[in-house]
This record gives sequence, structure tokens and C-alpha cells, in this order.
Amino acid sequence: MNVNAKTAKPAESASATPPAAAMPVPAFSIFFTVCLVVSLAMQVSAQSGAAGKAGASIGNAASGQVLYVYDEVNEQSEPYIAHFRAALDAAGIAYDEVAAADLVSGKAAVDPAGYDRLLVHGMVMAFNSKSPVRDWLKKKPDLSGKEVSLLVTANRWFLDNLYGQLTALFEKDGAVLVDAVSMATKKTDDAQERTAVAAQVARFAGR
Ligand SMILES: Cc1cc2nc3c(=O)[nH]c(=O)nc-3n(C[C@H](O)[C@H](O)[C@H](O)COP(=O)(O)O)c2cc1C
Repeated sequence: MNVNAKTAKPAESASATPPAAAMPVPAFSIFFTVCLVVSLAMQVSAQSGAAGKAGASIGNAASGQVLYVYDEVNEQSEPYIAHFRAALDAAGIAYDEVAAADLVSGKAAVDPAGYDRLLVHGMVMAFNSKSPVRDWLKKKPDLSGKEVSLLVTANRWFLDNLYGQLTALFEKDGAVLVDAVSMATKKTDDAQERTAVAAQVARFAGR
């Protein structure tokens, strides 16, 4: 009869060429799960890359990796932070970064104990009455055997005082100072400062 013929036809064509929506359930589930996992992995990877650059929410690195430590973020330190990041990237060095002020306050997401090599920049502030790097070192972190490259800058005053204090504290805390530079910046321009940072990072990379 006409009615039966009409209902039978679609059933036949469906079994001959199944549309995508009729894909067997297990195959579709596997395909969907793989897509989800790949997408999640890409998101996690993008987030951890951004965190590494910003120095936020990052865990402890595997042994052998580098930690870049600066005092704090302020108007004067920001250009140096940019110089260090650029130089580390140019040298192909994988690194994490942290503000010493956060190590002192306990807000840091990283623990220097998890790193073998430290690149540290301390700057004279407020006639050398303020130094987050010095405050952190005074807390006696165990830096035994860690290789430290240190840069100390000041516009002009108290440079030698801070340099002497930081080098002494690093040695007291067990670090091996592989490089220690003090730089008076009263007469230097941005390009010279960038070059000095790049040179320091290049020496560090060459070790
Ligand atoms: C809050 C603050 C206080 C500072 N106090 C001093 C200081 O007492 N003596 C000094 O020579 N430089 C001082 N500086 C300048 C920094 O040491 C200087 O900006 C830093 O070493 C980087 O050098 P540059 O900015 O000249 O390139 C101070 C900077 C800041 C942000």
C-alpha cells in the first residue's frame, strides 16, 4: 500500500548511507573526548606561558632552572624587568621570576629553594633604607650551592653600601656568587642599561 511504501523508503536509504548524526555512539564519544582534551591542554599551556612572563601563579621549577629575582615593581624597576625578560628570552633561557617583596611577605608563588641558578637585581632605594632583596636574604633562605648572578644599581648614592651588603648576605646564605656587578646609572641612558643587562645575562647563559 501507499502508506507502507512511503515509510519503508526512508528506512532503506538511512541504512545504505548513514548521516553523520547517526555515527555509532562509541566513535562519536571518543572523537568528542579527544577534542575536549586537546582544547583543555591548549588552554592550560597558554595560561602557564602567560603566568611565567608575569611572574604570577607559577609553581616551582624543576632542578636546574633559573629564577629571576627583582626588588619590586615600580617606575624605576619596570624598564629593568623588561630588559631582563628580553635578554633571558634572547638567550633562550627558561626562567621563572619573582619580586623579593613577595618572598618577604609570603605572597610569592615560587620558592627559590626549587631553583639552582638565580639572577638577581637589587636597586638602592630611599638612601638604602629600603631593599626587598636584602630583607629576603636577611630571612636566611638556604641558598647552599646555588649559583647567583647579581646586579646592583643606584642612581648615584649608596651603591657600594648595598652592593657590599648583598654580596655578604648571599655568601652567608651559602650561595656561590658567579657574577656580581654594581652600576651607577646617573649618566647611563636606557640603551646602555639594556646593553649592560644583556651582557650580564649572556655571561650567565654562557656558564
Ligand atoms: C623609591 C625609590 C627610591 C630611590 N632612592 C635612591 C637613592 O636613595 N639613591 C640612589 O642613588 N638612587 C635611588 N633610586 C634610584 C634607583 O636606585 C635607580 O632608579 C635604579 O638603580 C635604576 O637606575 P636608573 O633608573 O637610573 O636606570 C630610587 C628609586 C626608587 C624607585
